[in-house]
Amino acid sequence: MAPCLSFFFLFLFAFSAIPANSLPTFFPGAAYQSLIKQAKISKPKLPFKTHYFPQTLDHFTFQPKSSKLFYQKYLINSDYWRKGAPIFVYTGNEGNIEWFAANTGFMLDIAPKFKALLVFIEHRFYGKSMPFGKDSYQSAKTLGYLNSQQALADFAVLITSLKQNLSSEASPVVVFGGSYGGMLAAWFRLKYPHIAIGALASSAPILQFDKLIPWSSFYDAVSQDFKDVSLNCYQVIKGSWAELEAMSTQKQALAELSKTFRTCKSLHSTASARDWLWTAFVYTSMVNYPTKADFMKPLPAYPVQKMCKIIDKIPSGATKLSRAFAAASLYYNYSRSENCFKIEHEVDGHGLHGWDWQTCTEMVMPMTCSKESMFPPSGFDYEEFAEQCQMKYGVSPRPHWITTEFGGERIQKVLKRFGSNIIFSNGMQDPWSRGGVLKNISSSIISLVTEKGAHHVDFRSATKKDPKWLIQLRKQEVEIIQKWLNEYYADL
Ligand SMILES: *[C@@H]1O[C@H](CO)[C@@H](O)[C@H](O)[C@H]1NC(C)=O
Ligand SMILES: *[C@@H]1O[C@H](CO)[C@@H](O)[C@H](O)[C@H]1NC(C)=O
Ligand SMILES: *[C@@H]1O[C@H](CO)[C@@H](O)[C@H](O)[C@H]1NC(C)=O
Repeated sequence: MAPCLSFFFLFLFAFSAIPANSLPTFFPGAAYQSLIKQAKISKPKLPFKTHYFPQTLDHFTFQPKSSKLFYQKYLINSDYWRKGAPIFVYTGNEGNIEWFAANTGFMLDIAPKFKALLVFIEHRFYGKSMPFGKDSYQSAKTLGYLNSQQALADFAVLITSLKQNLSSEASPVVVFGGSYGGMLAAWFRLKYPHIAIGALASSAPILQFDKLIPWSSFYDAVSQDFKDVSLNCYQVIKGSWAELEAMSTQKQALAELSKTFRTCKSLHSTASARDWLWTAFVYTSMVNYPTKADFMKPLPAYPVQKMCKIIDKIPSGATKLSRAFAAASLYYNYSRSENCFKIEHEVDGHGLHGWDWQTCTEMVMPMTCSKESMFPPSGFDYEEFAEQCQMKYGVSPRPHWITTEFGGERIQKVLKRFGSNIIFSNGMQDPWSRGGVLKNISSSIISLVTEKGAHHVDFRSATKKDPKWLIQLRKQEVEIIQKWLNEYYADL
């Protein structure tokens, strides 16, 4: 039976080398690669200056080696800033910081109104911020310094130093983050309230841990997106896996399959075809944006609808598998520029697999596929997962650490009496929304939920085609941030 792939998207998706029962990442490795490549190719000139900050390797011990420094990259835009005005900081995610800066046009859009300084900080062990250079991913000895608490402390130290250098200690700081970066932004506000006056956490699945939500939530939500468009569409995709599974793995059958899937090279197994389809459906549901976008890949507005249109239009004489393939092709070939599909992806040789380490240590987000989902039913076998992590890195996951360190149990009651000034925004099209905070907690810990929103849609640059609900959502976020700032300046 096909395993339930793990995509942690926080953008977390990664088809990692962990074969079964692994965790979804915000970036499935394959898609991640292509998006990095894409970010490089179609990189618009970003209005930021690049800086490097000498950062401490280990904030939490005083062993001699913990004081080693590494260079942490950050980006700055000071076009609108004047001394004393707010500093808006993006708390970087599991990837190259330019990519997040390019996809968080919202902060650039609102900077003039607030005369804000914009700072995008790269997360340690990603992009150029490698504590041990090329050897950073070598083993647990180096990777051991990659975790969310060190990352939050990096942000705290860097922000403090920056304010000193600008002689603007009184500037209020608001942190912004999407996906894993959104989790970090929310946690940063809770851990470092003396450094950030508030946090906007977009699509931050801080409840995707332990047993806080049903493990089937993520894939049920993906399935719901397709079912909401058309029952037939959902049924065709659901039925396609068995057709794939039934194909023999003999050379000739694989050659047939390679033809159907228009692969560049003949397939070695049916599993890669399955992962390829899987990735297309999961990512498309995450980025089911109301306007044309190019986040993971170029896609039209409401791409789930477009995929289902493709499926529904094909006569029912065609196999379910061929119809699912046609739909998935929208994801891989909306640019119409692919001559063939590279279904068996190259292995990442550039050390972009940091998220994989994070899922094997603290970011354990169990996911299963229920019978109601459009994916083959499967469970989450923790023992097997832990064994794979042992094999790969020689470490054992700590599945309860995140909830111990940051909380999550009874979050409504806990945060009602503790904490303030956090916006959790979620779009229900995004499967990660099910691990988000979907209810208001207090008068200043606010949940903004949009029925048609997708993965941190609010962070995208405004466009003329934005629907009313999206304009309204951003307006409400700006008003809330303005209120925090007013209160801060009034208290000064
Ligand atoms: C602040 O200035 C010091 C001394 O020049 C420098 O080492 C440090 O990197 C600066 N901080 C930031 C955040 O750029
Ligand atoms: C991609 O789209 C173009 C234009 O429709 C088409 O000619 C090409 O065959 C497609 N590629 C694949 C691999 O299906
Ligand atoms: C939370 O409160 C705000 C008003 O402060 C409201 O606009 C929003 O819809 C509420 N969120 C939820 C999930 O009910």
